[in-house]
Amino acid sequence: MIAKTDAAGGPGLLPEVLAFSSSLEQDRALLREDLVGSLAHLAMLSRQGIVPAEAARAIHDGLVGLWRDAESGVFVPAGEEDVHMAVEAELTRRLGDVAGFLHTGRSRNDQVALDLRLFVRERCADVLTGLAQLLDLLAARAEADRDVVLPAYTHRQRAQPISAGYWWTAYGAMFARDVEAVRFALGQVDASPLGVGAIAGTSLPTDRRIPQALLDFSRLTLNGLDTVGDRDFALDFVYASSRLLLHASRLATDVVDFTSSEFGFLVLDDAIACGSSLMPQKKNPDVFELVRGRSGQGIGALVQLFTTIKGLPGGYNRDLQEDRAPLLGTAANVLSVLGALRVAIPRIRFDADRCRAALERDYTQATDVAEALVKAGVPFRSAYRRVGTLVRKAQGAGLGLMQAQELAHSLDPELGVALASVGDVRASVAGKRSAGSTGPAEVERQIGALRDAAAEARAAAGTIPRLAQLFTTLAEGSR
Ligand code: ARG
Repeated sequence: MIAKTDAAGGPGLLPEVLAFSSSLEQDRALLREDLVGSLAHLAMLSRQGIVPAEAARAIHDGLVGLWRDAESGVFVPAGEEDVHMAVEAELTRRLGDVAGFLHTGRSRNDQVALDLRLFVRERCADVLTGLAQLLDLLAARAEADRDVVLPAYTHRQRAQPISAGYWWTAYGAMFARDVEAVRFALGQVDASPLGVGAIAGTSLPTDRRIPQALLDFSRLTLNGLDTVGDRDFALDFVYASSRLLLHASRLATDVVDFTSSEFGFLVLDDAIACGSSLMPQKKNPDVFELVRGRSGQGIGALVQLFTTIKGLPGGYNRDLQEDRAPLLGTAANVLSVLGALRVAIPRIRFDADRCRAALERDYTQATDVAEALVKAGVPFRSAYRRVGTLVRKAQGAGLGLMQAQELAHSLDPELGVALASVGDVRASVAGKRSAGSTGPAEVERQIGALRDAAAEARAAAGTIPRLAQLFTTLAEGSR
């Protein structure tokens, strides 16, 4: 056990304590990050003359060998407290004492901060790529379904006619905001923590700017005491991911409702419909229910991370190791939900007749009638009251709004004219003109905005350095 010094009582750590305190099960997933970080650190130590050239070459080749052996499955970190120690232990087994030069001028505290930042940065690229695909998909669905008219709901009560294109772009607008949230997290993560050491820095002639440049970070973290205890970048990533999951969950709820026979607006393709083990007739929207269910994990992870950090004093505290499960779990969760949506969204279709039927025997055009009166010069509040009276009387007579023509004339001829001027539900949608409305020109503009957001997400993902590239450069670099 490398980290067990004589001062700490030599190698005699109780196996139970090692088992309790080990993070290896979780941080084994950070092996590639750890190796790339070590290569960059080593390059700095070598350039600064802190590690003799020959030793640096041996360690470099050793680290490159570990990466390759990890890729092929020959090297699986084991037997140590964490991935950092497991790498160093394996390197020592392979190279002997010369491996001991590597940990000069750094601590596991800045090392783990680096690994986590590299991990979050690359997952930001994956999430942005997933968001770009999702936004393009939603834009395409909005275009394809723009002539389907269905009720929009407030308070889960039928409110006004909208196009299905508008329904899709509403969710697109949410995911477009998530692109911004992920980009914010990316900005936060883009600072190199490496070289602050355990907390106070080092008296050795290190240069933090060298690994910063090699690992493609745009700046250094400001203060070591802050750096080793800082997980804000992880919070920001988990927040952005949880918010994305929340949006996915709300979309899923609409789909779950709309595929029920009560609504009947959406039909699931058999390839994504799950059955019941008992009821032979069932076609269940399990995929969307699970998307909704998974959002709970994201929110739980965010709360877990906040709670872990909340009471910590300044500097590094071992509690921070508990960041692994919520952070790594959220990354996997959000990417799997994005994948599920990508598969499922193309496999639901609108039943245009059912959607229209839901509007027809209802009063969702009452506002259109009031607006027709407003256009004739009536103050809105009095138009609102007059149409309200008409609706109540029509309901009493068992008539839909559009069958209440005679009733309207008998109540008030001006109201009759207003009602007659209102077309069908499609005309209602076509007549909307305010910015951000369901009007066709506006939906067209919204579709364009989703495509722009997709392009922005893709471009942002494209600028994010990937570990594999960094490894290739570093592996060739300082030979
Ligand atoms: N295993 C710890 C983690 O992953 C790193 C150890 C930090 N330093 C220490 N002195 N125990 O967060």
